[in-house]
Amino acid sequence: MAETDQPHEFDPLDPRAGMGGEARMLEDEAELFAQLADHGPSRREFLALMSAAGMGIFAIQAAAEREALAAGDLEQAASSGAAATDLNAVAVSVRVNGAQQTLTLDSRVTLLDALREKLALTGTKKGCDQGQCGACTVLVDGRRVLSCLTLAPQVDGKSVTTIEGLAKGDVLHPVQAAFIKYDGFQCGYCTPGQICSAVGMLEEAKRGDASYVTPDVGAAPGALDDDEIRERMSGNICRCGAYPKIVAAIQEVHSGRESARTWRYVEGDELARFRGEEVGDETV
Ligand code: FES
Ligand code: FES
Repeated sequence: MAETDQPHEFDPLDPRAGMGGEARMLEDEAELFAQLADHGPSRREFLALMSAAGMGIFAIQAAAEREALAAGDLEQAASSGAAATDLNAVAVSVRVNGAQQTLTLDSRVTLLDALREKLALTGTKKGCDQGQCGACTVLVDGRRVLSCLTLAPQVDGKSVTTIEGLAKGDVLHPVQAAFIKYDGFQCGYCTPGQICSAVGMLEEAKRGDASYVTPDVGAAPGALDDDEIRERMSGNICRCGAYPKIVAAIQEVHSGRESARTWRYVEGDELARFRGEEVGDETV
């Protein structure tokens, strides 16, 4: 009987071992493997090397970075990933919500991260971070952009308006007021992006920009119907599904046409009764 036909103790590093511990290699295969091992690292050595590489890759990279920096070799340090912030720093001068800002940023930082992390303007939300949801919409020189797909250096010399900059003091922007009036949100996460997008979209319509559903792209779109608003706002996703109220809010700002409300605030005596408070002579 050939050697490989004999049962033997299972060794996971033995090239002859199968998953169940049985010998799998035929004699000629084992011979070939043995010859290969003569001219290179053994399987045992190869596996040991691979595990060391897998477990130690970050430590090795960090050590390389430290050595390069200690030697003052910035180019090498950059290639191993160190000091990336310093090496890619650019100055960005931008007007944000009316205030001039000069930021020193890694050239790869997005406008979204610059607003949130550097300027603490956290009203602008990070949803998908890849241009799919619209939660990060802001206005750059009055036009709506996705700040997650815009690098901060791209807005150098421009004017950025975020949700924090739409109100004038205590007076809300008409779109903000309409969103409250129509209850155009539920969790509110998409709302800053929806409102900034709506503000930009209404300006686009005023300029005469056509949309996919504009019947005659050669003519100014004129008054926007609800389909136009839905299409033009289709880049802003609301996972709560507040779309009907969002459209109603935007429609009122656009046309002045008030949509029928299916709800109302509880106010005055009714609110007091609701709270179990006394109303006039009446004790509730
Ligand atoms: Fe920018 Fe979703 S976070 S589009
Ligand atoms: Fe919740 Fe739009 S209100 S995602």
